[in-house]
Parts: sequence; C-alpha cells; structure tokens
Amino acid sequence: MWSAWVAALLLLGACGDDDPTPQPSGNTDAGVTVDAGTDAGTQPVRHDHAFWNHSPRVHPRHDARVLRAVVPPLPDDPPIDTPDEVPLEVAPFDPDETRSGGATTVPHAGPEAFVQSPANITMEHRSRFLLGEANFEVDWVPAPSGQRDRDGLGPLFHATSCLACHVANGRGAPVAGNTKAPASLLVRLSVPGTGPHGEPVPEPTYGDQFQPRAIDGVPAEGQVQATYASLPALSLRGEGSVTLQSPSYELLDLGYVPLAPDVRLSPRIAQPMVGLGLLAAIPDATLLAWADPDDRDGDGIRGRPNRVWNAKEGREVLGRFGWKANQPDLEHQAAGALLGDMGLTSTLFPQPPCTAAQSQCLKGATGGEPEVDAANLASLSDYSHLIAVPARRGADREDVRTGKAAFLRASCDRCHRPSTTTGELPGFPELSNQRIWPYTDLLLHDLGEALADGRTDYQATGTEWRTPPLWGLGLTATVNGHTRLLHDGRARSVLEAILWHGGEAQASREAVQRMSPKERAALLTFLDSL
Ligand code: HEC
Ligand code: HEC
Repeated sequence: MWSAWVAALLLLGACGDDDPTPQPSGNTDAGVTVDAGTDAGTQPVRHDHAFWNHSPRVHPRHDARVLRAVVPPLPDDPPIDTPDEVPLEVAPFDPDETRSGGATTVPHAGPEAFVQSPANITMEHRSRFLLGEANFEVDWVPAPSGQRDRDGLGPLFHATSCLACHVANGRGAPVAGNTKAPASLLVRLSVPGTGPHGEPVPEPTYGDQFQPRAIDGVPAEGQVQATYASLPALSLRGEGSVTLQSPSYELLDLGYVPLAPDVRLSPRIAQPMVGLGLLAAIPDATLLAWADPDDRDGDGIRGRPNRVWNAKEGREVLGRFGWKANQPDLEHQAAGALLGDMGLTSTLFPQPPCTAAQSQCLKGATGGEPEVDAANLASLSDYSHLIAVPARRGADREDVRTGKAAFLRASCDRCHRPSTTTGELPGFPELSNQRIWPYTDLLLHDLGEALADGRTDYQATGTEWRTPPLWGLGLTATVNGHTRLLHDGRARSVLEAILWHGGEAQASREAVQRMSPKERAALLTFLDSL
C-alpha cells in the first residue's frame, strides 16, 4: 500500500547535529517549500559526519536553512488478482524494425556500441566525426596553460570533459546508496517566474546550474548528496512485490550566501548520446501531429511539445533535447553544456556563467574570447548528430514478439512511439529520409507527482517530462555497467522505471502490474532487445 507520504528532504547548507527532517504532511503541492531556520515539530535526522566533512574546505555555517520537497505518494496499489487470464499474443515481425536507426544502424552490441559512426557515413563526415569525438573526449584545463586550444575550464565547473558525464556515450548514474552524487548527475536551479524568452529564472547567486567544482582561488558552489529511502512495496500479480527507492537531495558545503528561499531544483543524469541527429531530423509536423494537448481522443494520454528559445536564430522553436525537451537543437545543447558543465564560453554563449554575486568567478582568467571557437563548437554539434544507433538483437524471437504485443497492449506505444520517418536534415544526407525506431514522441507528458521535480522549464511544468527514446535501452548494462534509469537515475531496473510511471501513464503501469508473470517477463525481454 502507498499509504505513507513520501517526503524528499533537501537540506541546504544545514550542517548542525540538529538538522530537522520533515514529518509526513498532507500537502499536495509537489513544489518545493522552504522553511528558514530549524523547523519546529520535526524529528532530528541522524547524519554520518564523514559525508559532511569530505571537502577540506570549511563549509560555511550559513543559518540552517531547510528546503524540502514534499512528494505525494504513488497511488494505492491497484487490485491485481483479476481472475481473467489474458491470452498471450505474438506480434508480427517486421524485418525493418531491427534497423533501429535506418541506414545509419550499426551491428555493435558490446561496450563500444554507443561510440560508432553511422554505417552510411559520408566521406566528408568521417573526419568531422573524429574531430568532434576528440573534442568530446578531451579534458579541458584552467587558463593560462601551455595548451591554448584546451584551456579556459571554469572558473566554476562540474566536469572537465563531455565524456566524464556521458560515459562511453551512454547514460550517467548516481552512485547507489547514501553517497555524494558523482559527476554525471547535475542539479538545475531556478526561482519562480520566467525570463524574457520563457526560460527559467536563474537562482540569483548560484545561477541556473549548481557547480560542485572550481579552479584555484574561486569557491565551488557546494556538493550534492543523494539519499535513498525505501517506499512501501508495490505488488505484481503472481510475483510478490517490488520496493522502489525514492531519492532526496541535499546541497551541502555552500560556497556563497544561502540559496534563495524559493529555489527550485531539478537533478538530472546524463542521457545516452545515440541517434540524436535522427531525432533532430524528425519534422516538426510529425511532433505536432502526435501532440494531443486536450486529449481529444479520450485515451487519457495528452502530450505536447515544449517551446524553447533558439538564441542563434532569435526565435521560439519546438524543444527536443534534454529530459524536459528544454533545448532546441544539438548545437544549443553542446554550447549549453560547454558553459553550464565546464564553464567554457563559445561563439553561441560568449558570456561567462558567473553571477554578479560571484566576484572571484568574474575575475577568473579566461582561455580566450570565446574559449571555444565556432569550428570546435560545430564539431561537437556534428559529432552529437552522427553517433549511430545499434541494431536490435533477437527481434524475431517469439518471446520478444510476445513482449512487443504486451508493450502495445499496455499502451506504452502511445508515448514511446515505435517508428517514424525522418525528413530532410540540411547537411546530413545520412540522417535524412530514414525509417527509424526510436520509441519516443519527443513530447512532454505528465508522469505524476511522484516523479515531479516541481520546477518549470520553458513550457514544461513541474510534473512533465519528455518521453525518452528507448533505442539502445537493452545495452545499458553492457555499455555502462549499471541499469539506472529515469531523469535522476532513481530506478535500478527497467521494471522499476515502469513502476514509477504515474499521471498520464498510470493505466500503463497498472496494466504491467496486472500482467501474468509470463507476459511481464516477455515485455522486459522485448525492452531488452531494443
Ligand atoms: C556534468 C555532466 C555533463 C557534462 C560534462 C556534459 N553533459 Fe550532456 N547532458 C548531461 C545531462 C544531465 C543532460 C540532460 C540535461 C537536461 O535535461 O537538461 C545532458 C544532455 C545532453 C544532450 C541531450 C541528449 C538528449 O537525449 O536529449 C546532449 C546532446 C549532450 N548532453 C551533449 C553534451 C556535450 C556535447 C557535452 C560537452 C560539451 C556534454 N553534453 C557535457 C550531463 C552532462
Ligand atoms: C504518458 C506517456 C508514457 C507512457 C504511456 C509510458 N511512458 Fe515510459 N516514459 C515516459 C516518460 C515521460 C519517461 C521519463 C520519466 C522520467 O525520467 O522521470 C518515461 C521513461 C521510461 C523508461 C526509462 C527510460 C530512461 O531513459 O530512463 C522506460 C524503460 C519506460 N518509460 C518504459 C515504458 C513502458 C514499458 C511503458 C508501458 C508499460 C511506458 N513506458 C509507458 C512516458 C510514458
């Protein structure tokens, strides 16, 4: 039973022994609420001080400030012991569907599966791919250095290379257990309201992303710690139950003044890099045809595109990339990562990321103006377009086709759209006019309060997320050595990821809970073949 409220506690800069933890509350607001000072009427929480003192730098004792997000529970377990056994179906096999990325598809299925160039890559793009790959993998260093084309890291930063988070071009993972979050989980910050182009408003001191590292002489912004609590067990017909783990995040060792009392946080792990150019090549018209913002077909599933600012063209466009479809294209995503994750200015975003309150950051040495020139930015964008999708494995097997039928029966395909055809993407003949199998609609869906971050991102609300593509899903363990899923890596397996689905996907989740063990196993086998 999901009888208890799940409270995610976010303690900001609270370092004392008397840090409070919130009591279960009846508050249905999934947004973040803040109590300044100690919160009377709450239980003391025990800390292992080894976590708090990991950094040699003194963590300033700003007045204890408790920020907490109260996340309502997943709904009650549905009754799952429905007597009527559904006869298992075997879906037909379409030979085309093994080639997930159309003619770009590569046969690799090992640890290198996500670092391949498209099978149909043009001669001209071969060298572009290699140049971009080198820029994606290289470690940046602080300026000044002997390596003029590789310096300018920071002053504030999160990682020294793209690859540090996008390990093997796969997905990031938060470390299991109650430990400090590693590099591949970043925390977006904002305060309520919207900027001139509808974007989130940065936190006044810390900006729009929390930076755990800094060059010498500049205080880092602090550390992120993830803690997991077990939730009440959720039943699965014929198979007992599953216990999900719910994360809470603490921002520790704050390097500057306390965070704004109404700050919103969004923790996110690095996404897999495969097939992104093909997603960029899906015509806007396709996404708009899939959208159903008013649920006109009455299936309970809506879906709408995010609309975001294209700084290069100075206009609003459909969002496609990021967990909330908060970036318009791969060039903006790369320039945003250079600036937000590594503190590197580029031709697209030439202003350093320091806020007015970060004086040492503003005085930090630069590695050129901008630090990444147009050619290197373009190479990162080209590389991000050209990373190939691996082929499906065992798609014609009977158990996989039984799982495909289960996927359709549970309406997973209403958001995870199996197939589409790309349009013409100028400059990328390899990616144009390809029949692809990404299992996404790139639209925003409300997945319920339990997954909510309570933070708007352009038009995405605090409960909405972009349907992630599922191609390559079954290779996660092979490529990254883990199976952590969802926007903050809270799910430890594909089954857990499904069980977190609520909101528009509530009926799909319950359908999976009610499946016979055989049908559910087939569904997971199908997902593993993607
Ligand atoms: C600090 C870790 C980190 C670093 C370093 C990093 N990324 Fe990312 N990357 C992320 C996260 C987290 C997301 C999801 C962002 C979001 O939802 O806002 C992401 C998303 C992306 C996406 C969108 C994928 C999709 O499916 O929509 C691309 C493309 C990307 N990164 C490219 C890059 C490039 C290029 C670099 C280097 C210039 C880079 N990243 C550096 C963590 C990182
Ligand atoms: C209403 C739309 C919708 C439906 C229906 C839906 N999903 Fe999802 N799915 C999403 C969204 C949005 C996310 C991302 C949520 C997040 O990261 O917090 C997601 C995440 C996932 C993930 C994790 C992917 C990743 O990259 O971390 C898996 C696996 C998944 N869904 C499988 C399924 C299956 C199987 C079904 C059917 C039983 C299903 N989904 C039904 C929208 C949907």
